[in-house]
Amino acid sequence: MRLTINKIQEMKQAGERITMLTAYDYPTAKILDEAGVNLILVGDTLGMVVLGYDSTIPVTMEDMIHHTRAVVRGSKNALVIGDLPFMSYHVSISETLHNAGRMLQETGCQAVKLEGGVTVAESVKRIVDCGIPVMGHIGLTPQSVHQLGGHRVQGKTTEAAARLIKDALALEQAGAFAVVLELVPRELARLITGKLKIPTIGIGAGAECDGQVLVINDMLGLFTDFVPKHNKQFARMAGTIKSAVTDYINEVKSGAFPGPEHSATIDEAIIEGL
Ligand code: KIV
Repeated sequence: MRLTINKIQEMKQAGERITMLTAYDYPTAKILDEAGVNLILVGDTLGMVVLGYDSTIPVTMEDMIHHTRAVVRGSKNALVIGDLPFMSYHVSISETLHNAGRMLQETGCQAVKLEGGVTVAESVKRIVDCGIPVMGHIGLTPQSVHQLGGHRVQGKTTEAAARLIKDALALEQAGAFAVVLELVPRELARLITGKLKIPTIGIGAGAECDGQVLVINDMLGLFTDFVPKHNKQFARMAGTIKSAVTDYINEVKSGAFPGPEHSATIDEAIIEGL
């Protein structure tokens, strides 16, 4: 039985911390699900950590649908959230609803996520009115990286902090079931978390959010182009993979692999008779 948005909200009330990680494919989703993570986000970070773009901006609805389907197939218990990519929820309400609907209908995921606060609150309300759970995302919103002038901490002045509080409250009012706080000073994240009835999920926002999210390729040490300050590498998979591949290359070149146990045999007499 998959986790529901009601359960996520009960976890906040009970003070039980919520765990969320990103995944982009079937085998990773299966591992995260078996390990017991609460929420799996098919983030548009896909663009950077899987597809090799330098931002999330080139990611399309088709990319997101393709990967979200695989993650849904790989999971049974976690609630799966599909990220709505750049410009898929900005042009008009009808296009927004169409794309949010596609995400649920064509992938089997249980919720969508989109970036922004007050400016997207009306869209959030309209999507929720269609029966589609929405997770908000404020603070550093990577789809607006050029507008924000880079990947920097948000809400550091009185005005900027007040704006983020307004954004969070607007999302809650619009019916979002949770909100991601990305690169927000921890004191401000604590204040927002205390003001909201819905859970906050932090990334680079301190320990006093209701839950935490990390990008799987970052936390596994698989994506090494850069290591964000907020990330903790719980493993060093790039090194592990590189050493396995080096062993493979050496064994193929030396003839040590494959060994007799890696293939089948037939009677030598059959070969001789051919
Ligand atoms: O796209 C993503 O992976 C995200 C997380 C960083 C929250 O939005």
